[in-house]
Amino acid sequence: MTCSLPPVIFFTIFFIAHHSLSTVADLHQTRSRFKPPQFSPLFFSPPPQNVTTTSPTRYFEVNKPPVPDLPTSQPPCSYRILHHDFGYTYAKPPVLANYTLPSHCSSREFSKIVLEFQSTSKGRQFDRIFGLWLNGVELLRSCTAEPKANGIVWSVEKDVTKYHSILVKNETQILSVYLGNLIDKIYTGVYHVDVIFHFYPFQRTNLRDSSSGYSSAQADMILPISRSLPLNDGLWFEILNQNDCKYKEVEIPRNAYRAVLEVYVSFHENDEFWYGNLPNDFLTANNLSVAGNGPFREVVVSIDGKVVGAVWPFPVVFTGGINPLLWRPISAIGSFDLPSYDIEITPFLGSLLDGKTHKVEFSVTNALNVWYIDANLHLWLDQEKEIVEGKVLEISKSSLAISSVSEFKGLNGNFTTKAKRSITSIGLVKSSHGDIITNANQEFSYENKMVLGKDGSMQIIDQLIQADDRIHAKRASREIYCEKSSKSFPFYLYSDSLEQRNHTSLEIANVSMGFNEERSERDNGLMKTFKSKLENKQEGQGVMVVKDHLVTSGYGSTQQVYKYIGSDQCYFRNISSSNYTILYDKLETVCKKKTLKLRHGSASKQTPTLTGLIYD
Ligand SMILES: *[C@@H]1O[C@H](CO)[C@@H](O)[C@H](O)[C@H]1NC(C)=O
Ligand SMILES: *[C@@H]1O[C@H](CO)[C@@H](O)[C@H](O)[C@H]1NC(C)=O
Ligand SMILES: *[C@@H]1O[C@H](CO)[C@@H](O)[C@H](O)[C@H]1NC(C)=O
Ligand SMILES: *[C@@H]1O[C@H](CO)[C@@H](O)[C@H](O)[C@H]1NC(C)=O
Ligand SMILES: *[C@@H]1O[C@H](CO)[C@@H](O)[C@H](O)[C@H]1NC(C)=O
Ligand SMILES: *[C@@H]1O[C@H](CO)[C@@H](O)[C@H](O)[C@H]1NC(C)=O
Ligand SMILES: *[C@@H]1O[C@H](CO)[C@@H](O)[C@H](O)[C@H]1NC(C)=O
Ligand SMILES: *[C@@H]1O[C@H](CO)[C@@H](O)[C@H](O)[C@H]1NC(C)=O
Ligand SMILES: *[C@@H]1O[C@H](CO)[C@@H](O)[C@H](O)[C@H]1NC(C)=O
Repeated sequence: MTCSLPPVIFFTIFFIAHHSLSTVADLHQTRSRFKPPQFSPLFFSPPPQNVTTTSPTRYFEVNKPPVPDLPTSQPPCSYRILHHDFGYTYAKPPVLANYTLPSHCSSREFSKIVLEFQSTSKGRQFDRIFGLWLNGVELLRSCTAEPKANGIVWSVEKDVTKYHSILVKNETQILSVYLGNLIDKIYTGVYHVDVIFHFYPFQRTNLRDSSSGYSSAQADMILPISRSLPLNDGLWFEILNQNDCKYKEVEIPRNAYRAVLEVYVSFHENDEFWYGNLPNDFLTANNLSVAGNGPFREVVVSIDGKVVGAVWPFPVVFTGGINPLLWRPISAIGSFDLPSYDIEITPFLGSLLDGKTHKVEFSVTNALNVWYIDANLHLWLDQEKEIVEGKVLEISKSSLAISSVSEFKGLNGNFTTKAKRSITSIGLVKSSHGDIITNANQEFSYENKMVLGKDGSMQIIDQLIQADDRIHAKRASREIYCEKSSKSFPFYLYSDSLEQRNHTSLEIANVSMGFNEERSERDNGLMKTFKSKLENKQEGQGVMVVKDHLVTSGYGSTQQVYKYIGSDQCYFRNISSSNYTILYDKLETVCKKKTLKLRHGSASKQTPTLTGLIYD
């Protein structure tokens, strides 16, 4: 199973240049966009600046560092838990290691815990999806980079502090990694992997400490909503079609007073490029038997048959996607650290605290084979009461509204798809924090405009997903906790095929995507406010020269601007690459703002504010 199996319209060519064609050329049949695609990782390098270089290329995803580089920072206590060479691992059991909190750390209190995944590879290989779980709790969903003859190296560093309660347990737990790789005479790339945990000692100066309160940053308990070992596969559930529904039965401790479901999702094979899938009426009219169901997808989460929330996912492009040259060495947004999505389910606790098991279910609207989904249930537990009670006050589910308009003649057409959904739930929970009414609301909107021209050889996708989450918790009509998140995911792709002479064509792809999120969290009990704003935009232009169905050359350029300002840190990076070479890389980590101090009022009347968050 790979991250990248091309879809309908991203027909794939066999990438081979200066290699023997005999064994592989016959795998590749056609370059029609509407035939089931063949696929392969790139077998050639773009115009090399310097061919003689033997050092491996370092790939990376642009992201703020999990630990800001502060002069006061103390070095972490680090622990390598796993080394494994992922050769032929496809459909084999996940690789396991015993995880125990390292005994050599001077402190048992940590301000940050960082997971580092390192890998090297050499040869030819597809991009492979992988997952990493601790006792079934997913800590990382990621995609490998495609190696080259000279070798590549990359690492992913992820702040996993929110999984604190499971990471510091005083017992042996099982770390599992599933990375389904295939090795044969052609695909030679073995992934040599190290998994390391870094524990940063607790410091008094840490802004976001783990002090208890209604909304402490880390949950007291995390329950896995994933498949259980032993398995010959990943621990995620596989959603194969739109009627498929996978679930797990869980028992929730009776003293839980807050619950957040964190959902991990990735899409593959026929739905890897779901946002470019064409409507079925068009496919039927043209007698095409390829991935369809249109371009709209949503993950729906239900508990005991009732919808509790949804995820409208960011369209992650894996490292072999669209034109692999675009992602070397700057990988696509989210490809090395796929985003997870939180759904507040506190309003439903009233029906879940009975000590019985409850079904947490996943489905995907319009799904085609295959979606990998699982979740972690983060629970905050009452330290004083053994039994917390509650009542679900309101569930309002505006059913999903989708509209789609197709205008086409033959293989040319215009297609517009729009969708909206809102989900609101209100529930009462009576814990030692008081009688708290939580109101959770999700608002989604979606628009996708597609143009197909030149008898199907040109396609434009212009898509925008917006997702807003609002959580308000009140005690006796006084707000005690409030959380807001507004996300927007613009995505644009222009792809064209230009016929040249001598059975040659130029395959052009221009892509632009953004991951933008504004967040704020306010805990009036702890007098704390956290704010952040992320704007992360990537643009790429690539060309592949295809002759007799084989890529003979190609090039690609990528520009990215990453801008994060938050109560915790600021991070700005403006970077570009072309043909494997970094053209410029500008980095700023100092917050350009008047003040980032939180005003701590002694009088409880005063609302903490974050002042002067200005970045220019
Ligand atoms: C290739 O390497 C040589 C020698 O190190 C250097 O002079 C030249 O500028 C390099 N070429 C490119 C395109 O980077
Ligand atoms: C984990 O520890 C147990 C008990 O010591 C041992 O039997 C098992 O083989 C270990 N598992 C791994 C994956 O190292
Ligand atoms: C961890 O557990 C062991 C045995 O269960 C116990 O002896 C030890 O004191 C515990 N350590 C901590 C830090 O709780
Ligand atoms: C549709 O495609 C199938 C398979 O390629 C072919 O056998 C059939 O004749 C086609 N039908 C029409 C109406 O073109
Ligand atoms: C698609 O839209 C364009 C611009 O509005 C129009 O010129 C073209 O005729 C449309 N194509 C089809 C097949 O409807
Ligand atoms: C066309 O392709 C063939 C085979 O690759 C090559 O021998 C020939 O020189 C090419 N002709 C032109 C005009 O590029
Ligand atoms: C694609 O990108 C290239 C290079 O930046 C640009 O020249 C071209 O106009 C772009 N085409 C479209 C349709 O965006
Ligand atoms: C990024 O750098 C490029 C090249 O110097 C410049 O043209 C562009 O304006 C910069 N973008 C931002 C947002 O600073
Ligand atoms: C990348 O390669 C293409 C094709 O050789 C070339 O046109 C382009 O200028 C190269 N980019 C850079 C920055 O050298």
